[in-house]
Amino acid sequence: MSAPHTSSWPGVIQRYAEHLPVTAATPIVTLLEGNTPLIRAPQFVEAIGGRFELYLKYEGLNPTCSFKDRGMTLAVSKAKERGAEIVVCASTGNTSASAAAYAARAKMRCVVLLPNGKIALGKLAQALMYGATTLAIEGNFDQALQIVRELGETGKVEVVNSINPVRIEGQKTAAFEICDALGDAPDFHFLPVGNAGNITAYWRGYREYQMAGKSDTLPRMCGWQAAGAAPIVDGHPIEHPNTVATAIRIGNPASWQGATNAVSESGGLIDKVTDEEILHAYKLLARTEGVFVEPACAAPLAGLIKAIERQLIPDGSLVAATMTGHGLKDPDTALKTAGFEPIIVAPERDAVMRVIGL
Ligand code: F0G
Repeated sequence: MSAPHTSSWPGVIQRYAEHLPVTAATPIVTLLEGNTPLIRAPQFVEAIGGRFELYLKYEGLNPTCSFKDRGMTLAVSKAKERGAEIVVCASTGNTSASAAAYAARAKMRCVVLLPNGKIALGKLAQALMYGATTLAIEGNFDQALQIVRELGETGKVEVVNSINPVRIEGQKTAAFEICDALGDAPDFHFLPVGNAGNITAYWRGYREYQMAGKSDTLPRMCGWQAAGAAPIVDGHPIEHPNTVATAIRIGNPASWQGATNAVSESGGLIDKVTDEEILHAYKLLARTEGVFVEPACAAPLAGLIKAIERQLIPDGSLVAATMTGHGLKDPDTALKTAGFEPIIVAPERDAVMRVIGL
């Protein structure tokens, strides 16, 4: 269990081994994921008129710049332990980036199925760069996941989507880190919901930490879907999901039940926000706090604005929100949203001073 590492943080498997399905025989495939910052965001809260404390779990600072690395270190380690040679996933982009990286590190082959044309540029670059066999399916994520399920049934490949239960096990470590940092669970936990694995994982993490006596309280779990891809909120699968937040462009989530359990058991909620609301919160966070996230992360931020309007968050509450992926994953949406071109200026001091008004 003592794989050599070059920082004092050993990665989530070694840090939380007692809570994870690993043994001394498990070969640990790690990129030292986890240990991400929990950043206070008072200026964003002020800008939206809130009277609570907000902490952002900035998962964009994982090795492949999303929260998926927590589950992938475990999924690929367990696949290697079983002697698998090929890992496969369907993805809206982040799972594929993470699978490709950890497979490269494990000297395994990786095959990823992506919805053609609906992947943010940075994520596509990652899968290709890490050497995954990258297939663009002429269909959406739900169709790609169905094919992956069928590939899994052949027994010839290891599926590393969150239908593989160890993915959820790894992802629950983010809840542990939040409790470790705050000394207890927050009052509310806000996060985006797509395939619904992460809300399932956080809820499990919070409950397990409480049962282990490492935290006392439990948060209300508040999940946010994009209005054009909100099957859980709408109560039925969506055949043609659509949203600017391509990470959560999912019409039939695999962990649907996990999400509804988390919400009902915790006394939380699941609701939806429009693309317009998402893009507003996306830009506002970057400008008020200097935290640049990908659009999906702005769903729970837009949700916070709604929650304030509905007076759902008592004054002084402690709210955590997961910022699941880094803003640089999706440069196209960033440039469109920022809404301007750089100002072209002659290479002279006076010209620059004129333009900036000095
Ligand atoms: N945020 C980001 C940035 C994501 O990439 C995802 C899911 C979610 C939120 C939603 O998490 O699916 O556990 O409810 N991305 C998956 C992927 C579907 O393929 O990368 P979830």
